[in-house]
Amino acid sequence: MRISLEDAAVRLQQGEVVAIPTETVYGLAADASNDLALAKIFSTKQRPADHPLIVHISDLSQVSNWASVFPDTAHKLAKAFWPGPLTLILPAKDHVSKVLRGGETTIALRVPKHPMALALLNLSQLSLAAPSANLFTQLSPTTAAHVEAGLGANMPVLDGGACQVGIESSIVSVAADGSWLLLRPGMISAADISRVAGQSPQTAGPSKPLAAPAIPKAPGQHALHYSPRTPLLLFKDRASLILACENFQQTDLRCAALVIGVGEKPNCPTTVLNNVPTEVAEQLYGVLHDLDALKVDRLLVELPAATAAWAAVLDRLTRAGHTKPR
Ligand code: TXA
Ligand code: MG
Repeated sequence: MRISLEDAAVRLQQGEVVAIPTETVYGLAADASNDLALAKIFSTKQRPADHPLIVHISDLSQVSNWASVFPDTAHKLAKAFWPGPLTLILPAKDHVSKVLRGGETTIALRVPKHPMALALLNLSQLSLAAPSANLFTQLSPTTAAHVEAGLGANMPVLDGGACQVGIESSIVSVAADGSWLLLRPGMISAADISRVAGQSPQTAGPSKPLAAPAIPKAPGQHALHYSPRTPLLLFKDRASLILACENFQQTDLRCAALVIGVGEKPNCPTTVLNNVPTEVAEQLYGVLHDLDALKVDRLLVELPAATAAWAAVLDRLTRAGHTKPR
């Protein structure tokens, strides 16, 4: 159910959940200061309570409402990449709701770049907790229609068009001493982050611990995160994908494929994406939603090159895959 910006602000102030656009994926938002509203996020998503939520704030000045410290490293990252697809995990102030933190001592913060998300934060005067607006373990939504398909036609959705980044934010945990760790790759790359934050913990000498003691468990570790319903098989090259397609068809199993870049195509419904990381990220979930809707027996996906530019796309595909790449 599509709703206006004004209606969305009122519903959120009344403690309801509303699906909202961000530049990465659609979020299922609620007032971050209202535990009853937060509980509705968990029940709607069928998400376990120990998975903490990201709080979306309107600007950098809001960080001190949630974080007990704002180390220089984190401040530099926020200045460089906010508004944008970067989430910072910082030590939380004591008063921050346990529901929000999922039992952690930290809080995840992000200033989204989508103009409607920013307008909503300003109009409602709230900070908005929002995980991706999908059922737990399923594909993230990048359009209002994806949200309605996953959460039902009655879910109130603020329609901001198709998300332009297309995959979830990069998540960086920053400890009180300024040491940092990339917990989830996104379209802001590890190299972009190191350039701003200074030496990466991976290259720190052995006397420095890789992760500060307070570094939390990595997000999205659940097997079958970001998965379509159709079993999805990953292939390291086109030839092996085409061969698998032929073999499936001989056993009467129907398949559909996603391939990246030019070259021979398999003899099944196939989507071809350009060999450009930002384009594949933008379209990835949309294509997987469409292929899933074909209700074939197997989805066959060609992996891009194992290079740094593809790290975030590879991460999501690997999690979506039902088996190891062939
Ligand atoms: O782009 C995004 O980040 C989107 C949009 C809506 O902002 N949000 C998103 O939220 O992807 P979600 O909940 O689907 O993924 C956030 C991940 C989860 O795996 C969660 O467990 C982790 O971040 N997370 C949140 N707070 C955390 C914390 N304090 N410590 C460790 N992990 C945390
Ligand atoms: Mg999610």
